[in-house]
Amino acid sequence: MVAVLALVAGAVIGVVGARLGGETATGGGLADLAESQGFTGQQAEAALKTFVPPGEYDDYYMFASGGHSGQIMVYGVPSMRLLKEIPVFTPDAWQGYGYGTDQGNTVLAGGTNADKNATELAWGDAHHPALSETEGDYDGRWIYINDRANGRIAMVDLADFKTKEIVDIPNVSTSHGGVFVTPNTEYAHISSMSPMPTTESGYADLADYNESYRGFSSWMAIDQATGHFDLENSFQIELPPYTQDLADAGKLTSYGWGFINSYNTERAVGGNAEGGDPLETGAIAADFDFLHIINWEKAAEVVEAGNFEVRNGMRVIPLQTAIDEGLLYFAPEPRNPHGVDVSPTGDYIVVSGKLDPNVTVFDFEKIQAAIEAQDFQGTDDYGVPILNFDSVVAGQVEVGVGPLHTQFDAEGNAYTSLFVDSAIAKYTLGPKAGVAEGDAFKLVETIPVHYNIGHLVTAEGDTVAPDGKYMVALNKWSLDRFPNVGTLHPQNFQLIDLDSNPLQILYDSPIGNGEPHYVQMIKTDKLTSRLDVYPPGTDPMTMTTSEFAVAAGDERVERSGNVVDAYISATRSHFTPDILRVTEGDTVNLHITNIETASDATHGFAVPQYNIEASIDPGEVVNISFTATKSGSFAFYCSEFCSALHLEMQGWLLVEPK
Ligand code: CUA
Repeated sequence: MVAVLALVAGAVIGVVGARLGGETATGGGLADLAESQGFTGQQAEAALKTFVPPGEYDDYYMFASGGHSGQIMVYGVPSMRLLKEIPVFTPDAWQGYGYGTDQGNTVLAGGTNADKNATELAWGDAHHPALSETEGDYDGRWIYINDRANGRIAMVDLADFKTKEIVDIPNVSTSHGGVFVTPNTEYAHISSMSPMPTTESGYADLADYNESYRGFSSWMAIDQATGHFDLENSFQIELPPYTQDLADAGKLTSYGWGFINSYNTERAVGGNAEGGDPLETGAIAADFDFLHIINWEKAAEVVEAGNFEVRNGMRVIPLQTAIDEGLLYFAPEPRNPHGVDVSPTGDYIVVSGKLDPNVTVFDFEKIQAAIEAQDFQGTDDYGVPILNFDSVVAGQVEVGVGPLHTQFDAEGNAYTSLFVDSAIAKYTLGPKAGVAEGDAFKLVETIPVHYNIGHLVTAEGDTVAPDGKYMVALNKWSLDRFPNVGTLHPQNFQLIDLDSNPLQILYDSPIGNGEPHYVQMIKTDKLTSRLDVYPPGTDPMTMTTSEFAVAAGDERVERSGNVVDAYISATRSHFTPDILRVTEGDTVNLHITNIETASDATHGFAVPQYNIEASIDPGEVVNISFTATKSGSFAFYCSEFCSALHLEMQGWLLVEPK
C-alpha cells in the first residue's frame, strides 16, 4: 500500500490545478489523461485506489467459493486480480488434481461415502468458506468449505493452497450456508440443509416427513496440528425437519454458542403435480421461522459424558436429549430468513428475513436472560422451547427489499445485501457496538449495486476485528455490464470503498469461472505459514517427508512380479529415468520427486492416452498408480513450461504387448 500512496502522491504532484474527486478532472498530466479518457474525477480516483503497481502486492487475499465449479478462487484486493483457483471438489488438470495422482485422487475419493450409496462424485458445489481463527480473528492457517450439493466439507491448507481432505458428513445429504469455524477453530460447523430420513435405508416417503426426516448440526473437531478433521471427537445435534440455512459462531460475549437460521418450519414438501402446492408456497405460509440457538460448549460436555447415540459412525445427541440438557432453543425470526451474522463483539445477532424489509437484531444478553427466566412463548411441535420474541430483540431496521447477508466494520456499522433492491444498506448497530443510544439501529445510507447481490464481504468483516477499508458485493447478474460473451454472462464482484462517504464503487470484476456464494477477505500478511518451496521430498498430504522421495542418484526401477515401482526425479530439463519399460497388464507405480529447490520451478508429468497429468512443485513427491492396460509407446512429457529446454523434457513409457 505504501507504493500506492507514493504513486498517488506522485500523481498529485503531476496534476497542476486538478482536484480529483470532483467533476471532470482538468489540468496537468494526470488530469489531461483522465479527461482524454472521458473519466470523471471520481472515476480517476477509483482507478488510483485500486491500482497495485507491477511487482507490488495486494493488501488482502479474498477467498471466494466457486459455486458449482467446485473450487475456491483467490483474488487480490484492491486490484481484484485473480491469483489462483484452488481445486477442491472438482478435478483440475493444471494442478494435477484428479488426473492420476494418489494425492488428488485420494482427496477427491475421500468425499464419496458409501452410506449414501453415492456413485463416485466428480464435482461439488463449493459454497461457504470459513477461514481458521484464533481468538475470533483469522489466523491464516486453513480454510474450510462445504459442498452444498452433497453435504461434504473440505479442508484447504494455506501453507501450500492445496486441498488436503474432503469428508462426507454422516447423516447430512445437502448443506447450504451452515458453515463456520468456532473462534479458536475448535470445530468447523456444518449443518444440513434439506432434512433427510433417519431410517436405516435412507429412504422414507414424504408422507412420513414429520416423523422420519431430521436435520443435523455437525461439529467437526479440528486437529490443531494439521487442520484435518478429527471424526472421533466430532459430534452432531439432531434437529427438527426444518430447512436449516445459514449459521454463524458466537464470539467474545457469545463464545460457546452457535446460531442457525431456518426456513420451511411449515415442513412443506412440494408435490405440485400430485395435487399439492409447490414447496415455495407452503414454505412461506407462516409469519415466523426459528433462529436456532445452540450451546455447543455444553453439547461437547454432554457428549463427553457419554450421552449420545452413534449413527452412521457419528456421535449424535438426539433431539430430546438436546432439549432436556438445555442445548437448543429457538427464537422466532421473521419470515424465511437467510443470513444470520454475529457482530464483532458477539453481542448482536443480525437476522435478515428474505420476505421482510427489516433486519432483526437479537441481543445475546437478552437471549441468556430469557433462557435463564424460562421466558418462553411455547414450544415447537418437537418440544423445543421458543423464546419470547419481544424479550430477545434489541432492534429492527428497515433496510429495503430482500435482505440477505450482513457484514460489519469496526465503527459499529452493519452492511446488509438487498437482493431484490440490488443494493447494500449501511446502518448502525446498538450501544453494545459502541453506538450512542440516540443513533442506534438507524439506516445510514444505501448504495446500488449491479445486479441481484447475494453475499457481500467487508475486510475481515466476520471476525472480532473488522478492518473496514473495502467491501465487495457478490452480484449474481451482470446483464449489460460487460461485453457480451454469449448467453451465460459472468457474475460480478464490485469493489466498494468503505472509507468513502457516501459509499463509492471502485471497480467491476467479472467472474468467468464460477458462481461465488460467500467470500472472506484476509490481510495477506496473516498467511505466515505459507510455503514458497517444500522441504525436499515432501508429501503434501502429510506435510512430512515421503517414503517414496528420491534424491539425485537414487533413482531406480523395482519390479516384483507384475508390479513396477519407478522412483523418478524431475529437474530442469529431464526426468531420470527417462525410459520406463513395462509389460501390458503391469501395475505401475510412479513416484516422482521434483528435486528442484528454486521457488516456482514446477514440472508437470503428462502421459498420453492414460489420462495422467501431474503438477510436481519444487520439493514435492507425487505418486501415480495405474494399470498398463494399453500397449504401445507413449511419449510422456513435462507439461509445465519450465525452462528453455522444456520441450526436451520428455521420455518414453514403453508398454510391451503381452
Ligand atoms: Cu519441466 Cu517443462
